[in-house]
Amino acid sequence: MKRIHLFEFHDLSWFPQAWRNVLTDIMGFLATGLKLYRPILPKLNAVLSALDCRRVVDLCSGAAGPALVLLEELGQLDGQPVTITLTDKYPNIPAFRRLAAKSPDRISYSEAPVDAASVPDRLEGFRTLFTSFHHFDADAAREILRDAVRKNQGIGVFEYTERNLWVWVPALLVGPAFVWLVTPFIRPFSWQRLLWTYAIPIWMPAGFWDGLVSCLRTYSPRELRDLTADLDTDGYSWEAGRVRSLGAFRVTYLLGTPGTTGDRHN
Ligand SMILES: C[S@@+](CC[C@H](N)C(=O)[O-])C[C@H]1O[C@@H](n2cnc3c(N)ncnc32)[C@H](O)[C@@H]1O
Repeated sequence: MKRIHLFEFHDLSWFPQAWRNVLTDIMGFLATGLKLYRPILPKLNAVLSALDCRRVVDLCSGAAGPALVLLEELGQLDGQPVTITLTDKYPNIPAFRRLAAKSPDRISYSEAPVDAASVPDRLEGFRTLFTSFHHFDADAAREILRDAVRKNQGIGVFEYTERNLWVWVPALLVGPAFVWLVTPFIRPFSWQRLLWTYAIPIWMPAGFWDGLVSCLRTYSPRELRDLTADLDTDGYSWEAGRVRSLGAFRVTYLLGTPGTTGDRHN
């Protein structure tokens, strides 16, 4: 199935931040509750170890659910502390603040917007993008990868969405019921979230449109490899692939590492 690059509501600058936060809070709940990215963590841990890097800069963090899982589980994998900086072009500051308060020595965040294609030099570390690379068309996606190569930083792109209707049609059909059921359990409790989900659920159609479009524009491993075609200079190497996750879910990934030799595409 061909990639279709339609727009997502929560990418639009006029989309109310309160609705964007409801949406990214739900994504955060999914990531922490279902731990869909857990199967990719050993690979990520191996890359961080090989680079001797313990600082992660999470781009497009949203409510930072996957980044939080990464932090908890990577600590358990090799016992070494990993620190993480949360960033976003439209930062969900309440979520960032909450997480940083829980673990101030390991989680920091940028209050200023950070564009994934132009990360400030002060934010050094291995870059991660969870469930967000599909937001960018091929030119913008290449620019994100090029920025990492230019600044000699590692980068990992991870997506649990994919252009596989057999996976996503059922998920989208049960999605609305799922959101209605789990919303009261999302922490911290928020009256605003209840208001926008039960009393005036006008963000819902936009949310489900965004879910569908996310699937339709997710890159396959082959397309991810194609994006890196001219980006293997100075020993920078790339690996793309898929690993199985919960149920029918799979995680599609691209890992870029500086300063290692050889072509690691598979
Ligand atoms: C689908 S959400 C993913 C959130 C989070 N990573 C997760 O998996 O729960 C995509 C995020 O990308 C952010 N975003 C969109 N364009 C961006 C850009 N150019 N640079 C940085 N962040 C961007 C949005 O604000 C949104 O929070």
